Amino acid sequence: MNQAKPVVAILGGTGKEGPGLALRWAKAGYPILIGSRQAEKAQATAQEINQTLGLQTVQGYENTQAARQAEICVLTVVQTAHQEALIGLKEALQGKILVDATARVDFRDPKPPAPPTAARIAQDLLGEGVRVVAAFQNVPAAALRKLDQPLHSHVLVCADDLAAAQAVIQLAHDGGMNAYYAGGLDNAIVVEGLTALLISLNKHYKTKTASICVAGLPEA
Ligand SMILES: NC(=O)c1ccc[n+]([C@@H]2O[C@H](COP(=O)([O-])OP(=O)(O)OC[C@H]3O[C@@H](n4cnc5c(N)ncnc54)[C@H](OP(=O)(O)O)[C@@H]3O)[C@@H](O)[C@H]2O)c1
Repeated sequence: MNQAKPVVAILGGTGKEGPGLALRWAKAGYPILIGSRQAEKAQATAQEINQTLGLQTVQGYENTQAARQAEICVLTVVQTAHQEALIGLKEALQGKILVDATARVDFRDPKPPAPPTAARIAQDLLGEGVRVVAAFQNVPAAALRKLDQPLHSHVLVCADDLAAAQAVIQLAHDGGMNAYYAGGLDNAIVVEGLTALLISLNKHYKTKTASICVAGLPEA
């Protein structure tokens, strides 16, 4: 049976990571809403994505407006604005899945962050009416934007709610990524820390697309 794809809002979707994810999912047929603090900025990013893909399906809204209309919301605000953004979005996110892509790593001095994970902070702040899933922290924006190339990036999905994790694994697959359930929300501290390694690798080898691939698992 051909099931309708859920509406996905990308909150803070005007930067580097958000538009990359939006490109992949819009190309796969998802209705995508770009969110921003300014509706005009979101609309401009949505228009760029539509032009790149030859579509009209991507729309732009102020963050809370985008969140209210979506079933799955993906948070890609700059890491320093993580908590501030969540406080403003708390009401609009109730009843949704929130995918937290935040890796609290400083590009200039990449080090693994201390617990709790960004996703645990989000879950505590948003309450049990929101199902938080940690994912995509290791998927480089530069690779997402290369639509003509396959993504060599596996997504480690951490969540306390297995059904929510499964919905995000499906989203990752549809975007061209292998994705695996990697345990509860607190495990995401390792995933955030891996971003520090990836940034260090990128700096040393002068690349932008260092990624994580997991060996020894069935093709997912
Ligand atoms: N870049 C990567 O390769 C990559 C890879 C994996 C994960 N991530 C994670 O994805 C997230 C976004 O990274 P990025 O590189 O895309 O960041 P970015 O380009 O620096 O910023 C993303 C967006 O954050 C919004 N923002 C800035 N200040 C804000 C504030 N005070 N309150 C609310 N929103 C604010 C801005 O949107 P508006 O001005 O439109 O509101 C901006 O376009 C981070 O948590 C990062 O760890 C990034």
